[in-house]
Amino acid sequence: MMGGGGMHLMWSSMYNPEKPRVRKPVQWRRILALFLPYARQETMVLVCILIGAVIGLAPALFTRHLVDVALAPRHPDAHALWVDVGAMVASAVVGGMLGVLQGYLNSFVGEGIMRDLRTSLVAHLHHMPIAFFTSTKTGEIMNRVSSDVDNVDNVVTGTLVSIVTNVAMIVTTVVTMFVLDWRLSLVALAVVPLMILPLGPVGRKMYQVRKATREKRDEIESMTQETLSISGITLIKSFVRETFEATRFYKVGTDLMDLEIRLAMVGRWFIAAITAMVIVGPAIVWLTGGYLVIREAATVGTIVAFIALLGRLYGPASALAGIQVQIVSALAVFERIFEYLDMEREGAQVAGPRERLETVRGEVAFEDVSFSYDGERLALEHVSLQIEPGGVAALVGPSGAGKTTVTQLLSRFYDPQEGRVSVDGHDLRSLDLAALREHIGIVTQETYLFHDTIASNLRYGKPSATQAELEAAARAASIHGFIAGLPHGYDTIVGERGHKLSGGERQRLAIARVLLKDPKILILDEATSALDSENEAAIQAAFVPLMRGRTSLVIAHRLSTILSADVIFVLEGGRIVESGSHQSLLARGGTYARLYRTQFQKNPPEFQEMPA
Ligand SMILES: Nc1ncnc2c1ncn2[C@@H]1O[C@H](COP(=O)(O)OP(=O)(O)OP(=O)(O)O)[C@@H](O)[C@H]1O
Ligand SMILES: [Mg+2]
Repeated sequence: MMGGGGMHLMWSSMYNPEKPRVRKPVQWRRILALFLPYARQETMVLVCILIGAVIGLAPALFTRHLVDVALAPRHPDAHALWVDVGAMVASAVVGGMLGVLQGYLNSFVGEGIMRDLRTSLVAHLHHMPIAFFTSTKTGEIMNRVSSDVDNVDNVVTGTLVSIVTNVAMIVTTVVTMFVLDWRLSLVALAVVPLMILPLGPVGRKMYQVRKATREKRDEIESMTQETLSISGITLIKSFVRETFEATRFYKVGTDLMDLEIRLAMVGRWFIAAITAMVIVGPAIVWLTGGYLVIREAATVGTIVAFIALLGRLYGPASALAGIQVQIVSALAVFERIFEYLDMEREGAQVAGPRERLETVRGEVAFEDVSFSYDGERLALEHVSLQIEPGGVAALVGPSGAGKTTVTQLLSRFYDPQEGRVSVDGHDLRSLDLAALREHIGIVTQETYLFHDTIASNLRYGKPSATQAELEAAARAASIHGFIAGLPHGYDTIVGERGHKLSGGERQRLAIARVLLKDPKILILDEATSALDSENEAAIQAAFVPLMRGRTSLVIAHRLSTILSADVIFVLEGGRIVESGSHQSLLARGGTYARLYRTQFQKNPPEFQEMPA
């Protein structure tokens, strides 16, 4: 430990050396509950371990018999020699087979618990509020779902089994030793604490370094995620930041490398201690036992058997020396997973029964709604608006005015701090979240597609959709012609996030997807990006069937969309500053008139061709 003194200080100041302990009370019942489905296999593992521990004693005992009886200097016994050697080999074979069986059972339990945990973790994460995802690094989430869950396997098949195995080995060995010779036993056992005590601090150090390593891995995972995503890589390339990113990666890589080396070095202390024990322990036994043999108080076979038994004692003893640390690390893994599982699901803030809306007329109302994402800046201030069933409302306003925020409150990605948002007069907070969202369709500014075929992406809107339905929706969204022209048609893979398609094509696919869902309420966040006029016309044409027969809330950047609305709400700085029809708003000469002159007028007025 001496050589590591300087390093130790450095790490301490950097990583706030926590003593390995669990802060919250350990949730034993919960951990136990995870094992419950595998109780049968676990019992069998236990039986394997116990039988294995007893069988493991056989070689030492038969060696004793071999030395003292079969090879007795005066009456050697060839028959006994064969029996002893045969028994040794047989015990090795049986032990080996038990090991294989135990290995299978271990994997079964470990992998099973991992599958269960991973599934419940991912399912739980799917119910986390959007705010959780905007404020947590994807890499960290990924790491918990992958590495932390993987670590559970280590805990189950590693730590737990190692505790039981080692305890069983120690108990059987110690009992056998005392049965053979209590004096030699005392001598042999006296050495154990001397060797093991120094391992305590080493274990604690190891725990700290492990913890730091895990955090560093979180960081690397995040960086990899961010830089290797399609958006990230595009950014890197366009700003020619490859070298910069490589340097950044090199830096965290070096940090991780240092930590890993440190971990390996700390591990060497364990090995050094065990190595010392393996040599010093038997030496002392030989010395004491030798005297006993000289005084004819013990047999050579007993000493030989003792040496063999010592090998079964020191290994498990040193393994158990670091056990407190191992247990705490193991519990920490469960803690990290439980921490995620304990996070409140979205929509859980309001108690009481929730109503499931089976059918919806589509009346939407915001009543004096104020909302802030971070509790500091208000994104919406006293917003009130109403849309009649089947009506089309356009939201216009400068960038950052809060338009997208309005749509996020309507789909209940967030709850307002003040006021209420309602559908058909029901406060959203009193409604069943999933049932509510069944009635709402969203086409966002950035459309997201899964790396899958066009057909699968469309079916996300309606899993049971037939090919004919897919085509009808695609036709309505003016994208069927394009899809039909692709070499693989509807089976074309769209690429990561749909990046093998143009922005306009992606958006029309998203529209077709929502058409298949056929929601009563539609939210449309028009892309701000300029589209070529052909795409523009196609998307415009796609909007018409989309809005028919639905209550639509459209964030409009194009005059044609605005003009197809029944009512226009003008947002500025989180407030609704004006509302009314295009003509009345123009006549007012306010914000809308200004936006009209600077933004909307630039778009070609295709609206004249549009049906009223
Ligand atoms: N997740 C978030 N956390 C904190 N603040 C946010 C978050 N999302 C948006 N905001 C802030 O809320 C305000 C309103 O944002 P919003 O996205 O509603 O604007 P917008 O009107 O849709 O703008 P644009 O036309 O550019 O899309 C902005 O000031 C923005 O910075
Ligand atoms: Mg927006």
